[in-house]
Amino acid sequence: MKIIPGPASKELGKRIAKLLNTETVPVFFKTFPDGESYIRFDAETLQDENVVIVQTTSPPQDQRLIQLLLMADNALDMKAKSIIAVVPYFAYSRQDKRFLPGEVFSIKTIVKLLKDCGVNRIITVNAHNPKVLKTFKILVEDLSAIPLLAEYFKAKGLGDNPVSLSLGKKALSMATEADSVLKGGFDYISTKRDVITGSVTLEEKELPIKNRDVIIFDDIISSGGTMAKALKLVKAHGAKKVYVACVHPLLMGDAQKRILENGAEEIIGTDSVPSPVSKVSIAPLISKVLTR
Ligand code: R5P
Repeated sequence: MKIIPGPASKELGKRIAKLLNTETVPVFFKTFPDGESYIRFDAETLQDENVVIVQTTSPPQDQRLIQLLLMADNALDMKAKSIIAVVPYFAYSRQDKRFLPGEVFSIKTIVKLLKDCGVNRIITVNAHNPKVLKTFKILVEDLSAIPLLAEYFKAKGLGDNPVSLSLGKKALSMATEADSVLKGGFDYISTKRDVITGSVTLEEKELPIKNRDVIIFDDIISSGGTMAKALKLVKAHGAKKVYVACVHPLLMGDAQKRILENGAEEIIGTDSVPSPVSKVSIAPLISKVLTR
């Protein structure tokens, strides 16, 4: 097996290779003045190799997706035996159906392109809609980094066991997974998404968090707007200290500042997306699956 750490996941790729005691293929890349990507593998051939390309597709997602497709097709041309794409943050996964007539079905298009470029298997982490990924004719494995995030908080030794909250009922499994580590109880914050604007509103609901420490778990933090609203809500419900955990810390613009200003004690994310809060590595999770 050979690991190809893509330009967007150089460190994560190297961490995975180290845990697997596997060679990496050095990747040279540059961006031309007009914005196009150039990539070269420092290898003569990949004949008979099982190749693992590690490339997250956080912003700038279009460029990173193109780099991923270029790398996969290159590995195919270099006669790789099989190609696994490790795409921790899977761009375009929120457009997981046609919400309105005439809309694009983005996630389907992306998977189709990966398949056409020779990818045999996709490994992702806390996909926005794991069910839809199962409907495509390619093996997609969706791993969860929530237990790793919960372990981080357990190791911190917060006083009372904190309550684990998910953002939205659909994501309740995040809260239950976290609770199996933290054991302070779990619940969800009720959310409603406007299909036209995409904005999320929070609905009033009883929450067992008065005078309790709370950790709010979410898959993605982008603008931080949803999390800022959630912080206001849990504070209004009498929560003591509130921590924020997310798998994919995109943290666009002033998201981090916005969340901290709304009373979060700390924001923790994973290295699915390199960021100042990416303190938990998903390398052990991915390397375990690759050894199977
Ligand atoms: C929504 O479905 C996701 O789980 C996140 O809650 C959302 O993407 C966060 O976006 P933002 O940080 O821009 O509010």
